[in-house]
Amino acid sequence: MTLTKKDFLGLYDTDAEEIEEILNTARAMKDILTRSVKKVPTLRGKTVINLFYEPSTRTKFSFNLAAKRLSADVMSISKSTSSITKGESLLDTAKTMEVMGSDVVVVRHSSPGAAKFLAENISAAVLNAGDGAHSHPTQALLDMYTIREKLGRLAGLKVLIVGDIAHSRVARSNIWGLKKMGAEVSVVGPLTLIPTEIEKMGVKVYSNLDKALEGADVVNILRIQMERQESGLFPSIREYRELYGMNKERLKKAGKDLLVMHPGPMNRGIEIESSVADSSQSVITEQVKNGVAIRMALLYLLAGREIKNEDID
Ligand code: CP
Repeated sequence: MTLTKKDFLGLYDTDAEEIEEILNTARAMKDILTRSVKKVPTLRGKTVINLFYEPSTRTKFSFNLAAKRLSADVMSISKSTSSITKGESLLDTAKTMEVMGSDVVVVRHSSPGAAKFLAENISAAVLNAGDGAHSHPTQALLDMYTIREKLGRLAGLKVLIVGDIAHSRVARSNIWGLKKMGAEVSVVGPLTLIPTEIEKMGVKVYSNLDKALEGADVVNILRIQMERQESGLFPSIREYRELYGMNKERLKKAGKDLLVMHPGPMNRGIEIESSVADSSQSVITEQVKNGVAIRMALLYLLAGREIKNEDID
């Protein structure tokens, strides 16, 4: 076993060997999800707390399901229905959960560094489910898993990320992970939405989507965050759609081998046309499915270390 940290906070401090271990463990977990009884006793007696300070569909429910598939006890806390509305701090809420016996705290928060802060202050394992614009490591892992499952490898592939790179934790985590696994990563979007020093992460920058798509094996299309338009970071939805929207003409020109991804939730008709999202080249639903396996793998690796491998066979 190579992943020995107490917490899992991001791919910036996860090496290629650890990523490989997570992806391989997820493959075993995915086998469980194909059985008629999709449940194993591996984490029986363990408690997982989902602490979500931001809205989420995919991440929250897949962590929930992942914990249940492994037979852990799981509780979900959301901002609107807890004492967070009465002003309780993140740390006090997490400590309250901890003294009730939680083994793993999964946290999504709008502040970059929130998961790290918790990890340093509670003894339970902390799993980052997205912290502000900083990091969304489980999304990047499920993206990498999906690419590897479909194309058989990551090393040497050309992966293009389209859209709001500056505010995207998905982009940042994908860049960290894909680069460590030997992929070539490019980004494209309005220059106001590309961080000035992004090249230091080892990625190529384009401003023209058609040019950027030439030779790409994978295109990962980010959700356009509508509030950016209100703050003047791109001129109009119509112009964004024309310059950076993935449509059927662009898909046809890119060729039938291009893999189309989107982390969700999608703005259909803006960054991605329905004809592309629902095409045979799209693996968007597989990404969601693989998210459960990735989250099962991480819960197992963090909370089930002392449990023998046979339990997942
Ligand atoms: N991709 C993603 O994180 O989706 P949710 O916000 O629905 O969890």
